[in-house]
Amino acid sequence: MIGAGEALRAKIELVLPGYLATVRAMWDGDAAARYPGYLAMLHTVMRASVPLLEAALAECRARADRDPVAGRLAGYYARHAREERGHDEWVRQDLAALGEDPDGPLAHAPGAAVAGLVGAQYYWLRHYHPCSLLGYIAVVEGYPPSPGWVGWLRRTTGHPAAAFRTLTRHAELDPGHRDDLYRLLGDLPLTPEQESAIGLSALHTLRGLIALLGTGQTGP
Ligand SMILES: [Fe+2]
Repeated sequence: MIGAGEALRAKIELVLPGYLATVRAMWDGDAAARYPGYLAMLHTVMRASVPLLEAALAECRARADRDPVAGRLAGYYARHAREERGHDEWVRQDLAALGEDPDGPLAHAPGAAVAGLVGAQYYWLRHYHPCSLLGYIAVVEGYPPSPGWVGWLRRTTGHPAAAFRTLTRHAELDPGHRDDLYRLLGDLPLTPEQESAIGLSALHTLRGLIALLGTGQTGP
């Protein structure tokens, strides 16, 4: 029998080529002009990272005395919320380095693509089980840009290095976060239904990212 981590990775990799093709297509053309809008879009997603983790943590704590998976997850979500804190601030700093208004991403209501991508996670963690958020994390932190690609984007756009701290730091940090997640998946006493929910969450996240990035509407 394959483990929960291997099964999740296999599901993700079925859809991954479509996602990666969407990312590549997004940077065809005028990457310099597209980059500020991409950062604004990133902010709409990343400002929900810590609140999502805290919502999952609260659900875990409410269930921990009768639910061994929730009990184990609480420690992970508490630690990961600390690790992710302030990353949306890096996006604001990147926008400022481009001469853009760092509060720009807050000026308009994010579109339905972002709400569908992130909002589904609140529903599942609250109304099914907080383990579902692991599928989202496996996608958004599982396939970070490589340092080489970030360098390519910086050279291609001609923007200052100070405008790339979000991507540069995630290229460094996310491989470790991905390893932590898959170690956890190997240890959790997940039920088959919970494993399915994590897979559904991951596939929904990939579809949501493809919709968000593929529309060309990278702004909020
Ligand atoms: Fe992050």
